[in-house]
Amino acid sequence: MSEIAIVILAAGKGTRMSLPFSKPLAPLQDKKLVDFPIKTLKAFTSKKKLDSNFSVVTGHDRENLESYLSSQYQGLHYSFQKDQNGTGGALSSYLDQCDWAESQKYTLIACADTPCLRVCDLERLYDVLVENDAQAVAASFHLDSPKGYGRIIRSKKGFQIKEEKDASDEEKAITEVNSGLYIVKTTYLLEQINKVDTNNAAGEFYLTDIFKEDADVKPVLFENPLSFLGVNTAEQLQSAEAILRQQKISELTQQGVRFIDPSSVYIEDDVKVGKGTSIAPHCHLKGNTVLGQNVNLEAGAWIKDSEVGDGAAILSYSHLESVVIKGAASIGPFARLRPGTLIEEDVKIGNFVETKKAHFHKGAKASHLSYVGDAEIGEESNLGCGFITCNYDGKNKHKTTIGKRTFIGSDTQVVAPVKVGDDCFIACGSTITQNMDSGSFAVSRGRQETKPGMAKRFLKK
Ligand code: UD1
Ligand code: MG
Repeated sequence: MSEIAIVILAAGKGTRMSLPFSKPLAPLQDKKLVDFPIKTLKAFTSKKKLDSNFSVVTGHDRENLESYLSSQYQGLHYSFQKDQNGTGGALSSYLDQCDWAESQKYTLIACADTPCLRVCDLERLYDVLVENDAQAVAASFHLDSPKGYGRIIRSKKGFQIKEEKDASDEEKAITEVNSGLYIVKTTYLLEQINKVDTNNAAGEFYLTDIFKEDADVKPVLFENPLSFLGVNTAEQLQSAEAILRQQKISELTQQGVRFIDPSSVYIEDDVKVGKGTSIAPHCHLKGNTVLGQNVNLEAGAWIKDSEVGDGAAILSYSHLESVVIKGAASIGPFARLRPGTLIEEDVKIGNFVETKKAHFHKGAKASHLSYVGDAEIGEESNLGCGFITCNYDGKNKHKTTIGKRTFIGSDTQVVAPVKVGDDCFIACGSTITQNMDSGSFAVSRGRQETKPGMAKRFLKK
């Protein structure tokens, strides 16, 4: 017997969202709505070391949802709810179709539309159930405007949940609402689920009817309602974006990260940031970005799927995607580092420099106005202003290799494929088409002719 079955309800249409696909696939950050509860539930079971099984109940737009989930996760079990006749019906589909459903000690039920759940909330809910040896617990919270949520009606022993549509005016005034997150003993669930009927205003099987006023079931009240936001409308999806960001920023702040203006920073859930790092206004941190310790991000840095090492500085308005910066390098302002760029320590990439698949070894510099693509730049080499790798012949890309301590004057182009050795010197304005041995000098430009007094022929009055 496993300790806990995790069931995520995702079969509903999400009519209130007006989307051309099912609600669990609504875009949130660079992922989908359904990814968020799954990720948090996985983190919860692994933190608590609970032997667990994960199931998703699908229905509306089933093919797309299952194909997306299969591309992201291994080992999820799918149950199919043919008619979307309510959350109770969704759970019955799971119990009917999943061989091991009945043999799990506990069943945790979450909705695909609650993306802001936190591991600490799940831990607390679980602990209350286990410590009290109760039959079931439901997470609840207070809302000043509880519209749309099921109301918690407490009684001496247990509690009931009344849906908005079925509630009397008096019940509607109750501000304690149901989050849709429950943990139940599986034996209790099996006893109750068959008693759920459709005698209600929606004519649906309400899962919430498993909670009874005379049963040993407990609502667990949470102080912070934000974690339990249920996304039923496009506005609520926007709120979820904001809450996820707030949660992330406060978690990182507690870990020693400095946000100068937290309200203006866009940061996604999987981003990791080390202590002592400072993040200025209007930075965007996306995907699997990892920032080390004591990194300095100036205003407007945009970073996706990149690794930025300890002590690096990313100056204003620099754009980094799928790059690795190994240590204390300085990037920007206004630099664009494209996929495959690898920057070692003490490198300087200055303003209006674009790189792609370029490896800058320790101490190399490209300080101004350059394009460096498909290139290897050796230690301590200096690329002058306006340096360009001509890497593309219209069909194929070619590589440029530059050795150590080589000095390249301004406005030089290297026509790849080409190799320049160590300790070379290239005079400014050169177009380099041939390999250069270490220690050599090259100049390739038209010789200057100066004619005294001749300028007046060309100057226009
Ligand atoms: C539900 C709860 C409500 C609670 C709220 C919290 C019920 C009856 N009501 O209402 O008490 O306050 O969540 O957010 O449970 N689903 C299915 N099959 C269906 C219908 C729904 O799988 O036939 C799934 C949906 O995809 C969704 C979840 O169940 O992920 C909740 O459904 P939704 O329609 O959003 O319920 P609410 O009206 O929000
Ligand atoms: Mg909902």
